[in-house]
Amino acid sequence: MGIAIQYLFVMDEYDRREFLSLSLPSFLGVLTALPSLCAFATRANAAEGRLPEDGAMHWEAFLEAVSKEAGKQHLDAWNQDSYVQNISRLAGRLHLEDPVLLDALAQIQARLVNGKVDFKYLEQRVDFSLCLVQFDEGEIIRPHDHPGMTGMILCASGEIETSNYDLTEIPDVQVSEGHQLLKRVGTAVLKKNDISTLTAKARNIHTLKAHKVTQLVDIFTPPYDKERIEQSHWYSLSPDPVAGLANVFEAKAE
Ligand SMILES: [Fe+2]
Repeated sequence: MGIAIQYLFVMDEYDRREFLSLSLPSFLGVLTALPSLCAFATRANAAEGRLPEDGAMHWEAFLEAVSKEAGKQHLDAWNQDSYVQNISRLAGRLHLEDPVLLDALAQIQARLVNGKVDFKYLEQRVDFSLCLVQFDEGEIIRPHDHPGMTGMILCASGEIETSNYDLTEIPDVQVSEGHQLLKRVGTAVLKKNDISTLTAKARNIHTLKAHKVTQLVDIFTPPYDKERIEQSHWYSLSPDPVAGLANVFEAKAE
């Protein structure tokens, strides 16, 4: 028992550092990725952003289409639900065998032996960020939120289970001191090309557990910045739901 718990604790602490601390320094990683991305811009433009065979989108065209959508967040009327649907549609057209993406996935795959969840930013802009996240089989990211942000997760390979939660208040339900109620609003097993989304107000808290070696493409809009990282929380959930409420759990924010 001790070893297993200790292992999970170490994993969690490592993930927390990766997630909360390494996001900003990875700006630097983007700089190294940019030249290769730019090299494909010409090719993308020449094909008007589409592969002739099946209408799939080149990487660069995909980025520009997402960027155009993400720019709408500055409008008063920005609708996050529509936004995540729109970029999900774009992600559904992304050519997963695009050389830029294949190269990035291969690079991150080389880090698999590290025994931790790997992150690699491919694009970091003012309006959105795009990163690859790689899990070994059985690895988890504990429940956490994304303050004021939307997220879209595209499964590029593997198989991963994800559950989403909303903070909730239920009259007449007593909550332990220092705890909140989380309502599980969805659970899905993502396989290649499957997508999961969250917005600032819906499904914002999620947890992930890889059934197989898995690679995800994550788009956060707006992206993490210092303030959002500081506002982020991990949650410890009670193992059992509240009596009589199958999808409601007591949780403590950390
Ligand atoms: Fe997340």
